[in-house]
Amino acid sequence: MRLFDVYPIQDITIQKALGSTVWDDKGQEYLDLYGGHAVISIGHTHPHWVNRIEKQLHQIAFYSNSIRIPIQQELATKLGQVSGKEEYQLFLCNSGAEANENALKLASFHTGRKKVVAFSKAFHGRTSLAVAVTDNKNYVAPVNETDNVIFLPFNDEQALEDCFKKQGDEIAAVIIEGIQGVGGIHIAEDSFLRQIRTCCTKYGAVYIADSVQCGYGRSGQFFSHDFAGVNADIYSMAKGMGNGFPVAGILIAPHIQPKHFQLGTTFGGNHLACAAALGVLEVIEKENLLDNAAKIGAYVQKELKSISTIKHVRGRGLMIGFDVPAELSELKKKLLWEEHIFTGEAKPNVIRLLPSLALTQADATRFIDSVKKLSSSLNH
Ligand SMILES: Cc1ncc(COP(=O)(O)O)c(C=O)c1O
Repeated sequence: MRLFDVYPIQDITIQKALGSTVWDDKGQEYLDLYGGHAVISIGHTHPHWVNRIEKQLHQIAFYSNSIRIPIQQELATKLGQVSGKEEYQLFLCNSGAEANENALKLASFHTGRKKVVAFSKAFHGRTSLAVAVTDNKNYVAPVNETDNVIFLPFNDEQALEDCFKKQGDEIAAVIIEGIQGVGGIHIAEDSFLRQIRTCCTKYGAVYIADSVQCGYGRSGQFFSHDFAGVNADIYSMAKGMGNGFPVAGILIAPHIQPKHFQLGTTFGGNHLACAAALGVLEVIEKENLLDNAAKIGAYVQKELKSISTIKHVRGRGLMIGFDVPAELSELKKKLLWEEHIFTGEAKPNVIRLLPSLALTQADATRFIDSVKKLSSSLNH
């Protein structure tokens, strides 16, 4: 049997990983500033995380949500403490798309409405509702097409206000990434997020903060939407939550009441996933990884801005993007094959950095030195 060929892949086989370092099958070492697409939050194979999963595996890995699973409450309590959203409720699932799917569905159940506002360049996942609110026609199959989604320009306060004035009583939810990832690292302005909050409160709609990529400490705050100083009604989370173990969830504000069977999942919230997620939060707390993300991220941005050929450096914490001009078009390739550094990309010519939140100063400096070296040699 062949694999279904949907991914353009690099010809590299990674066999071993620790912290921000990975090794291929020939023993070549690489610095990982891509974090397996923003997934590696506390560092590859962190010993505490490995230990947490291993111990749980010997007790029980899975049972269905039809019985008491105390480790789910343990996770909810810790997540409340670390995120500062102690009064919220937790629903657990398995992936980012599924988290957004549940968030949108819950918003519709709660309001009894059908319309959702989403924004230009948004990416929210590939399942039916999640892809319908994603602004990329290539991912939307005919069966996913719907008139229920209203796309507005990102960060356009006037367009948002006009939309709510016109059809506010039909809108179930507004969904927005705090920092657009796939769209090329674009920050939702604090004033824009505050306006979303105001409109949702005034018209009875649900504010959904897609924190799948920008959340879980990546920005230096637990949720990047928190920079705006207002709360969302639902936060969706995934990537960094399990440090590579598939686990996701939504945090739900207290005024949204649960009803039996409205949401559900077979695998979501299983014992092993909760152990992995607890391991992540314990390390985030113990190693002060939010502060580290803010500090090392600020250093990387400052250094990148000092390189004259690099354009439009942006982001928050360790979610950083910059434009690569035509004369440096080989930069990403050369970083990988000559400097052995993994980075991410966004079309058409943006390099994205999504490393572990535990990235060290020394590793950040190694990256900056490589960019300086390559950008001056490519420019000549
Ligand atoms: C902001 C955002 N939302 C949702 C998703 C979908 O997550 P998943 O691939 O786990 O379904 C992604 C994935 O890249 C994302 O970046």
